[in-house]
Amino acid sequence: MDYQGGRLGLPSCNVTDTAVPDLSVQTDVPVFGTGSMSDAGSVDGVFTLLGGLAGVAPDARQSAGTRAALVTNQRRKPPESKRTESMDIVKAHGAEIPALGFGVFRMSDAEVEAIVPTALEVGFRHFDTAQIYRNEAALGRALQAAGARRDDLFLTTKVWVDNYRKDRFAASVDDSLDRLKVDRVDLLLLHWPGDKVAIADQIAMLGEVQAAGKTRFIGVSNQNIAQMKESVAVSQAPIVTNQIEVHPYLDQRAVAAAAREMGVAITAYYGMADGAVPRDPVLREIGAKYGKTAAQVALRWLIQQGYIALSKTARPERVAENLAIFDFALSDGDMTAIGKLSRPNGRLVSPPGLAPTWD
Ligand SMILES: NC(=O)c1ccc[n+]([C@@H]2O[C@H](COP(=O)([O-])OP(=O)(O)OC[C@H]3O[C@@H](n4cnc5c(N)ncnc54)[C@H](OP(=O)(O)O)[C@@H]3O)[C@@H](O)[C@H]2O)c1
Repeated sequence: MDYQGGRLGLPSCNVTDTAVPDLSVQTDVPVFGTGSMSDAGSVDGVFTLLGGLAGVAPDARQSAGTRAALVTNQRRKPPESKRTESMDIVKAHGAEIPALGFGVFRMSDAEVEAIVPTALEVGFRHFDTAQIYRNEAALGRALQAAGARRDDLFLTTKVWVDNYRKDRFAASVDDSLDRLKVDRVDLLLLHWPGDKVAIADQIAMLGEVQAAGKTRFIGVSNQNIAQMKESVAVSQAPIVTNQIEVHPYLDQRAVAAAAREMGVAITAYYGMADGAVPRDPVLREIGAKYGKTAAQVALRWLIQQGYIALSKTARPERVAENLAIFDFALSDGDMTAIGKLSRPNGRLVSPPGLAPTWD
């Protein structure tokens, strides 16, 4: 069942014709270009018309000539009077992904149900969950109870590694859809590469559920460069994102550069570095110049590189804070200064048996 239109009366977000001018700020960190929108637009049209039944647009394979141009940034108009900020979107192979997503990792059902109405109210439309978070059902309930219109949302979930089996994969996705109360998600990811199932087999199972209409777009998470390249090479449909840990202490420039070559958008998780970012004196000092917090500076640093950023908080006052990053731009000098915070031991998430050999 899809959510019904209703109580919040959330109107659709329209993509404006104007590319965001300030996203091409040059830094020493790779930036996605603002290329032609036309290819991506027509691919998205196919998805809209077919409602995901065909799953894969005919011209959507990642070819070397078109890859880089397919990841672009545009800005959405604020559709709601309560919204004070516009939301950038990242376009990748027809996917229009709100550049800031609300993640629900490490949130109880009660926390999810309490905070999602606030997230919708301030303007979040992109929600990120996973089978392993065990809160898909709470997210589904919360979105439905808030009266969110399905078409306004961008919903991502991730298949857990135990389900990378022929007899489990599609069934596990059906279960996720039931829990989320939707007919399909917008983006379905392989959560971790793991060390048990070949990447090609993982991608084949992911492609099958996409072809069956259970997700509009597919992607991967926590893949190293070699795995990402293999995924792109073997997939019938475009890999629109690689969701990886990125924050000022782990800039991931090598993976980001490789992803850009292939038109794979980077989705950054752990942007707060698990709580270290808001306390960082350098980020605080930079933020003071713009009247922003260290958390906002770090999220802006991610968005300004053309990444999609995920932000999680269970605290209502921080929901609005985290979204208020589209009304300022960091200077070149500040982007560079933040990039210099990256350090060799900056990685926080690397579970044995799941994580690859990192680049
Ligand atoms: N693909 C993957 O393997 C993977 C792994 C991890 C995460 N993710 C995704 O990425 C999302 C974000 O990552 P995360 O939630 O683990 O970590 P995170 O973004 O690094 O940080 C979350 C922590 O920062 C705090 N916080 C948030 N906004 C703040 C602010 N403005 N000021 C001060 N503190 C703030 C939160 O605490 P409060 O709640 O108390 O505010 C929370 O403890 C997840 O929810 C999930 O969707 C994906």
